[in-house]
Amino acid sequence: MSEPVNTSELYPFGTDYAYFCTKVAELTGINLHNYKGKQMYRRLVNYMNRRNIPDFATFALRLQRDPEELERLVEYLTINVSEFFRNKEHWDVLDEKVLPLIIDSAKGRMRVWSAGSAAGQEAYSAAIVFAERSLYDVFILGTDIDEMSLSKARAGKYSTAEVKGVPSHLLEKYFSEEDGFYKVKDPIRRMVSFRRHDLLSSEYPGGMDLIICRNVLIYFSEQSKREVIARLADSLRPGGVLFMGATEAIFNANDYELTQVFPFFYRKW
Ligand SMILES: C[S@@+](CC[C@H](N)C(=O)[O-])C[C@H]1O[C@@H](n2cnc3c(N)ncnc32)[C@H](O)[C@@H]1O
Repeated sequence: MSEPVNTSELYPFGTDYAYFCTKVAELTGINLHNYKGKQMYRRLVNYMNRRNIPDFATFALRLQRDPEELERLVEYLTINVSEFFRNKEHWDVLDEKVLPLIIDSAKGRMRVWSAGSAAGQEAYSAAIVFAERSLYDVFILGTDIDEMSLSKARAGKYSTAEVKGVPSHLLEKYFSEEDGFYKVKDPIRRMVSFRRHDLLSSEYPGGMDLIICRNVLIYFSEQSKREVIARLADSLRPGGVLFMGATEAIFNANDYELTQVFPFFYRKW
């Protein structure tokens, strides 16, 4: 006789939630099981309470019927807050200490990847750092899972509140004012391309000199986090650098053939 199936082990948050996750994966390509389980479940329950959705089965049905409901959920799930030069002191380390290492060892046109680029603030910050060294012939790729963020990134237009992290001399030099908004100027925009990419399922680009992946992995399960770090490390060329977020230190960098060169900066062997 076969062992009885322990459903609480298989479905720790219930079968309704498991069904909901399958539906979300089917409709959006986002696999909720790759994110931190308890945290994701709690966020979704809060979201349903706020929107008066009684249970996961009803929610799944609504998502299937209403594209706007689906879009709203994706936006909520992906937590796409960002800033220009977020944690400025780390960008100063990038500029003063890390870029010389990268530039000195680069072969050909440099390749930079902002993975989880939200509305583009991180990718444009990187472009500005290079431009300040008169390096404009750099390929900067911004990727995100969220199409809405990517559209905003491509538009390159930000409110006064959104550009508060940009030092005033850089704001003046690299942005133009348009109807109360700040638009990234063309020489910077030309350096940056945006496209959709899911860190948990898409193919990774290779030969990167610098990968910036900040405040994305904090939402992933431990296993997904390990897999993504391994794949990011594979995407670096030898001597390339991975720039992580302020709460995302990699403690076992050696396992990925990386060496910490400064806090939050890891160099590929
Ligand atoms: C909190 S924002 C961080 C933005 C920026 N990197 C920063 O540090 O300011 C997290 C971003 O990761 C994106 N994201 C979440 N899951 C993702 C995945 N599986 N693949 C790619 N991007 C993802 C979200 O859409 C969101 O734009």
